[in-house]
Amino acid sequence: MPVSEEGFLPTAAAAAPEEPQQTDFQLVRVKSTWCRVKKGETPSNLKDKIILSEAKIGECVSEGGISWTIEAPIYFCYKVVETHNILDPSNPTLLWGHTTDTQQLELNTGGKRRLRRFIVIDEVVDELYGSKVRSYFEENNVQHKILALPTTEETKSMDLVLNILQEVQKFSIDRRTEPIIAIGGGVCLDIVGLAASLYRRRTPYIRVPTTLLSYVDASVGAKNGVNFLQCKNKLGGYTPPVASFLDRSFIQSIPRRHISNGLGEILKMALMKHKGLFDLLKSHGKYLLDTKFQSYSGSANRGDAALQTTRIAIETMLEELAPNLWEDDLDRLVDFGHLISPELEMRVLPSLMHGEAVTIDMAFMTYVAHARGLITADEKEQIIQCMRGLELPVWHDACSWTLIQAALRERLRHGGGMPRMPLPTGLGVAEIFNDISEETLRGAYKLWVKDCRTVLEEGTAAL
Ligand SMILES: NC(=O)c1ccc[n+]([C@@H]2O[C@H](COP(=O)([O-])OP(=O)(O)OC[C@H]3O[C@@H](n4cnc5c(N)ncnc54)[C@H](O)[C@@H]3O)[C@@H](O)[C@H]2O)c1
Repeated sequence: MPVSEEGFLPTAAAAAPEEPQQTDFQLVRVKSTWCRVKKGETPSNLKDKIILSEAKIGECVSEGGISWTIEAPIYFCYKVVETHNILDPSNPTLLWGHTTDTQQLELNTGGKRRLRRFIVIDEVVDELYGSKVRSYFEENNVQHKILALPTTEETKSMDLVLNILQEVQKFSIDRRTEPIIAIGGGVCLDIVGLAASLYRRRTPYIRVPTTLLSYVDASVGAKNGVNFLQCKNKLGGYTPPVASFLDRSFIQSIPRRHISNGLGEILKMALMKHKGLFDLLKSHGKYLLDTKFQSYSGSANRGDAALQTTRIAIETMLEELAPNLWEDDLDRLVDFGHLISPELEMRVLPSLMHGEAVTIDMAFMTYVAHARGLITADEKEQIIQCMRGLELPVWHDACSWTLIQAALRERLRHGGGMPRMPLPTGLGVAEIFNDISEETLRGAYKLWVKDCRTVLEEGTAAL
């Protein structure tokens, strides 16, 4: 086209970029084929013969070309089940409790094909419960492979994930019908969860927690992961199990310190959103420690304390996790105690357990909340006393001001430039803050050191 001088002059029509044309399509399946249909234009004669997907394709045609926007909701459904006698061969939960697919159930229980299961179990748990686990599968005529591994914070790595995957490949499981079973503490469940999510892109798995912490926390959400380059849970994903089966009788064999460790995570939920749970921990904490959550060993009233404590801890956790399974919303109350603790836990490995590191973080943050005027001195004292009553540490020498600064910088980097600091604003209520000044943090740190380090030194001197 010849270009005249006038040709360079913008005319009204040439200057205005064309409006992009947006068309929204639904997806329908007719027989075996999926196809796009403009929204609202499904032929009425097909309406009862088609399957309508929840996915959508938006097509945008503009001067620059064409683009498609895909909206594909991903649906997860998983069960968290409190059960008893899970290793009793007559209890079908471990084999069938995860499935609601009655057709599959009938097919598998019809005896046409021998059941198969791949089980990963923590080495210590294997020593304690391995013979029962073996009897369970033998008596149910299940072809099985039990892989016992040393699943500890130090071994929580990709190496162990690959180790599991090699064995899974050798055993050759059917990913549609043969979920991998993980039996152990939070470390074991996290490693197996990651391995399962990688095998054939997503293989169903079942969690059987054997520590208090994994009973109330690691079994409840969707996350899995391993440590990487000295950083806590740096590699991982959001793939929930098909089910978590919680049997509190496993907890009876964990050492007292591990009960405290689990109580640390329970206290987190109490401080963030449930005053009643806080009161339970304050009044029954010692009993729960002494009886290791075995409610039948106490009076009815005390027994209820164990049941109520785990139930409220799980329910409050589920309330916070279920609407935000993939952590798209970074404002999470359940991050309380997890701002400084990842740095601290990895720095002093293996001297602090996860729940202990979380409690030290919560103790410092309690002082921050007080310094900011969110809680009274009496409330601060009640929280610290409750931690001590649960035999949890409220201080650690390695938790220096430098470490706190480094951890908070890391938090900023991953929080979209905001600290998103959950802090108690009373007992059992909390909010997320982004405006805590360095001066407040420093003031809180000084007072925390003064109050809590002194007590530790006195305690140590007395030993
Ligand atoms: N995925 C999540 O959402 C989530 C949530 C919280 C914590 N976690 C992870 O959980 C881990 C901590 O879990 P944990 O506290 O259960 O620690 P753990 O898995 O290391 O177990 C602690 C120790 O207890 C032993 N043990 C386990 N069960 C036992 C039993 N019944 N009797 C005797 N000994 C037993 C284990 O051998 C281990 O040495 C951390 O790595 C943390 O990151 C994950």
